[in-house]
Amino acid sequence: MKKIISIIIAATMLFALAGCGKDAANNSSNNQGAADGKKIIVMGTNAEFPPFEYREGEKVVGFDVEIAKKIAEKLGAELQIEDMTFGGLIPALEAGKIDFIAAGMSITEERKKNVDFSNGYYKASQVIITLKDNTEINGPEDLENKTIGVQLGTTGDEEAQKIQGAEIIQFNAGYAAIMDLQNDKLDAVVLDYEPARNFASQNDKIQILPVELTQEEYAIAVRKGNQELVDAINTVLEEMKESGEYDKLVEEYFSKE
Ligand code: ARG
Repeated sequence: MKKIISIIIAATMLFALAGCGKDAANNSSNNQGAADGKKIIVMGTNAEFPPFEYREGEKVVGFDVEIAKKIAEKLGAELQIEDMTFGGLIPALEAGKIDFIAAGMSITEERKKNVDFSNGYYKASQVIITLKDNTEINGPEDLENKTIGVQLGTTGDEEAQKIQGAEIIQFNAGYAAIMDLQNDKLDAVVLDYEPARNFASQNDKIQILPVELTQEEYAIAVRKGNQELVDAINTVLEEMKESGEYDKLVEEYFSKE
């Protein structure tokens, strides 16, 4: 009997505790916006793309996050970040779950049908990554009939699909593709240059071939017709370039390894 009572007491306490925690969490997230009258602006990203966005513990950080903070500041809003798969970003934007996409997203004609882009803020390209001991692949022409890893739904994915006879393996994260390359499951990986350089700086088995497959430019995407937000973002980008903040960020996040 005693045992049963103590179990009941323990269970009640646990229940109360759990309830408590939930309330606290709810209160803090609900009140924060209301208490200081701040609105919330939601950035969508895919934090698998260092140095533009990546995780430091639980936090999403990176070059794009720094720009997003400035955008929020300009709007007098509190920045909230939603991390999701890259392919989920445009649907989430269209559904109103996020306000803008800052994810090293390249401007493409196809995407322009579904979103509006800010001015470009970073010039980028797709590159080929191979193992250092691979002497067979020296350029795009050597990728025919090879097994190539890409990040799903990216411009690198699109570019790789054009290669004759190649088998394209799509990953949710570029890093996972690099791991499979290292484990000899892939012949090459096609990825954006800066993340490729970031991965290569931490992995002495891989190399980046000195050829650019594409010329691209990253921009921030907003819902179609949201001109007000595009204008605000463009103003922020301009101001950051004028004040030298932009160059400071470049130095901080793209310092030569
Ligand atoms: N620039 C490429 C694209 O637009 C890849 C971007 C991937 N970004 C990311 N956060 N995972 O498709």
